[in-house]
Amino acid sequence: MEVHRKLVVGNWKMNGNLNQLGEIAAIAAAAKEAAGVDVAICPPFTLIAAAVARSGGLPIGGQDVHSAESGAHTGNVSAPMLQEVHARLVIVGHSERRAEQHETDAEVRAKAETALRHGLQTIVCVGESEMDRAARDHVAVVTAQLEGSLPDQAHDGELVVAYEPIWAIGTGNVATPEDIAEMHAAIRAALVERLGEFGERIRILYGGSVKADNAAAIFAVPHVDGALVGGASLTADQFVPIIEAAA
Ligand code: G3P
Repeated sequence: MEVHRKLVVGNWKMNGNLNQLGEIAAIAAAAKEAAGVDVAICPPFTLIAAAVARSGGLPIGGQDVHSAESGAHTGNVSAPMLQEVHARLVIVGHSERRAEQHETDAEVRAKAETALRHGLQTIVCVGESEMDRAARDHVAVVTAQLEGSLPDQAHDGELVVAYEPIWAIGTGNVATPEDIAEMHAAIRAALVERLGEFGERIRILYGGSVKADNAAAIFAVPHVDGALVGGASLTADQFVPIIEAAA
């Protein structure tokens, strides 16, 4: 099993404002001290430029991107626009977008392809519902999502996968280490089957109620190469211990 440098990404979702950018500055300062771990924050689009200015080099990213380069797509943001404000990464296919914006696997894949072509580190999210898990279909559902959502190559960007069981997001119901181990091993196997040796190199993050008190146990699970953190990434006092647990 290839061991990867851990990647810890904060997804601020539709939270935060200009007054809260001091948190990003504090997170950036702590991230510099944490040797051996990569850290990034994805705030709402409106805060990206100001966050980059306050982040002291900490990578800042978007929470979505359109698959087209420009054009008549009201309300959307393109990869060149993200690049112009020095965003270095982007999340695609988050379950909240799959549910609220009805994004399909094919759309997620097209977004990921565009983002990677523009050299953005691209985090493709997958995850099953509570019903899928109750029906014991969780592995099949997630591997099918991966099959449909993953581009075949990473172009100039880094491709990252995030496993976020929907029932664990924002609920405090973190998946057990056994649940996470089962799914991350299945994702790794699917990546290798599809992409060969390149599939070994892709980092697989876990997301869903990651907090300071459970982070170390999650990071110890095989094939967990980091975390995608929602609520606990909004303040330095909650996020920094998670970064430290990964270091
Ligand atoms: O993308 C992060 C995420 O969906 C997990 O959110 O608040 O459960 O850490 P949270």
